[in-house]
Formats: sequence, C-alpha cells, structure tokens
Amino acid sequence: MADETWSAVDEYVSDLLAPHDEALALAVHESEEAGLPAIQVSPPQGKLLHMLAKLVSARSILEFGTLGGYSTIWLGRALPDDGRLVTLEAEPLNAEVAQRNIARAGLADIVDLRIGPALDQLPTLETEGAGPFDLTFIDADKIHTPDYFSWALDHSRQGSLIISDNVVRFGRLVDPESDDPTIPAQRRLHEMLAAEPRVEATTIQTVGGKGHDGFNLARVIS
Ligand code: SAH
Ligand code: DHB
Ligand code: MG
Repeated sequence: MADETWSAVDEYVSDLLAPHDEALALAVHESEEAGLPAIQVSPPQGKLLHMLAKLVSARSILEFGTLGGYSTIWLGRALPDDGRLVTLEAEPLNAEVAQRNIARAGLADIVDLRIGPALDQLPTLETEGAGPFDLTFIDADKIHTPDYFSWALDHSRQGSLIISDNVVRFGRLVDPESDDPTIPAQRRLHEMLAAEPRVEATTIQTVGGKGHDGFNLARVIS
C-alpha cells in the first residue's frame, strides 16, 4: 500500500473527526510561513492526544518539543480552565511562532512555554516543584527520549500517561545496525520499559500522512 493511500485516509478521517478550526489551521499556516518543518502530529494524532488527556482527566501536562504549538493546542484544549501545560522548546524561532499560535488559540494563560534545550530546563522545573504531570508527551530530539522518559516517570503519579512519538521510524526500530542515530535511543526506551516495574507499556505502529512510524504509551502503575 502506498503512502498516497495513507494520506488520503488521514484526510478523510481528519475532515470528519478532527477538523481544524481557525486556530489550528492558522497554527499550521503560520508555522509553514515561518519556515518551520511540517513535522507536527497529524490531525487524527492530535485528536488522539486530546482524547487521551481527557481520558486521564489531565490537569497538568508536560510536553517535550513544541515546534509551532500544534500538538500543544490539541493537548491544551483538553485541560480545565485552571489546568497547566508546560512545553519545552530548544529553538527560539519555533518558540516565538508557537507562542503566537498558542495565544491565538486562547491558551496563553494555561500554557507555560520554556525556551532552551529540555535537559537544561528540567533542573529548573525540579526546583520549582513542578508536577506530578498527569500526561507527558515526548516529541523533541529523539536521541534523549529515554532521558525525558525517566524524568517524566519520576514526576508522574499513579495513573499518569507518558506518550513518546516517533519510536518506530519506518521500521528502523528493529534494526540494531541502523545508521539513524535516533534508533539506539528508541531501542533503549523499549528495553527500559520492559524492565521497569512502575509502568505498563505498548507501542502502536502508525501509517498516515507522515509515513510509517509509531508511538509508545506508558501507563504509570505506581
Ligand atoms: N510536538 C510538535 C512537534 C515537535 S517537532 C507537534 O506535534 O506539533 C520537535 C521539536 O523539538 C522541534 O521544534 C525542535 O526544535 C525541538 N527540539 C529539538 N531538540 C530539542 C531539545 N533538546 N529540547 C527541546 N526541544 C527540542
Ligand atoms: C521528525 C520529528 C517528529 O517529531 C516527527 O513526528 C516526525 C519527524 C523529524 O525530526 O524528522
Ligand atoms: Mg513527532
């Protein structure tokens, strides 16, 4: 089956079940205008993030990798008025575009966007006593996914959900010799999960407008 078919199905589902309102459409448009890469989650995936946040009754969310704020808007819209979403973005230009998109979506009071490499921000969040987070979405540089996961796990509660994007990468996940530098990190994540008694986890492969990839879901048991 061709990528064209996957994209067509993504569009069909998006049109009916995950349609863009003005804020989401403009978030995509403005990101593109600013030259950001079009690597945000697809509309059906954004809707999934939104629904998962509601399913865990999330009041606090942590996101690694904001880009133009597209996934941030889907997640932020699942929060109650007094909810809070911390999102970490390394690139100042991306953060600037995201901040405008987030404000346009009416989420400026809920979303706390921090600029700088995520690993540098975590000690600050620690000092502030941030968390526990009900949901964490890991979608920044893929090399540090296991580090972000460990931190998120230590700042979760029983029942929290940790979602990691791009763990399959066209099936390269199963190739220990892959020259894609993100793959050893995704394999390490899976080995960590297998040995971690505090979570139950699974990985779901996806196809769609973004090709063949997948995400990992980890539910914190204790
Ligand atoms: N979650 C977004 C897409 C994120 S793309 C969405 O679905 O809409 C990955 C983002 O992670 C990029 O914006 C990139 O600049 C950022 N990033 C890369 N390395 C990072 C790091 N070390 N810390 C924080 N963000 C990082
Ligand atoms: C890339 C990053 C992502 O978060 C994604 O979902 C797809 C691609 C990338 O860096 O190429
Ligand atoms: Mg991603």
